[in-house]
Amino acid sequence: MEAPSVKSPIFSRRNFRFHKNSISMSDQAKVDKTRRNLMVATSVVGGAASVGAAIPFVISMWPSERAKAAGAPIEVDISKLPPGELGVFEWRGKPVWVMKRTPQMLDGIKQVDGRVSDPQSKVPQQPDYAKNEFRSAKPGLLVLVGVCTHLGCSPQFKPASDKAEMGADWTGGFYCPCHGSKFDLAGRVYAGSPAPINLEVPPYTLVSDSTLVIGEDKEKKGA
Ligand code: FES
Repeated sequence: MEAPSVKSPIFSRRNFRFHKNSISMSDQAKVDKTRRNLMVATSVVGGAASVGAAIPFVISMWPSERAKAAGAPIEVDISKLPPGELGVFEWRGKPVWVMKRTPQMLDGIKQVDGRVSDPQSKVPQQPDYAKNEFRSAKPGLLVLVGVCTHLGCSPQFKPASDKAEMGADWTGGFYCPCHGSKFDLAGRVYAGSPAPINLEVPPYTLVSDSTLVIGEDKEKKGA
């Protein structure tokens, strides 16, 4: 078995504990089939005042050196990703965020349509199937490249419960501490942010409710 490359988590605010898990396999020829380590991390988000606020997890999976070198699609098991919590995966050297958005999160996205620069994703920062309000092939699924479109920092997940830090009208999203850009939970940039355009949506295929392939665009290929 090829040894995985494990890097430091990108979310420095959180306390991490680690354990191994395995990723499901498929017969897709281009998908790396190496078993991978799954790092699971959890901590309470500071500043949350509400009782019962979500406790976000950060799940990171790093592909093998072989997969990285090839820029190959990666297959990830999202069956254990709890709704409303953030999974972080590396694809082509970039963090890719995956989240199962809750109905409340989708409502929050709708609420800020008038406050984001490109609410319908007209700028080509996503595959055609994600050119919509939720910027996704399936409203409940978020898949984003976690790299700020200003100067390339990696923004931080700020759930709706972070109102003390982000403001009373915050409905959840991402904040880039480098220069203050804000994005909603569809990766749409708030008007007035230094970042000029929405976060990138990578090509992906939802093979099943539990299996996501990042970097492979079946729709584009006509599959
Ligand atoms: S790099 Fe994100 S706001 Fe500048």
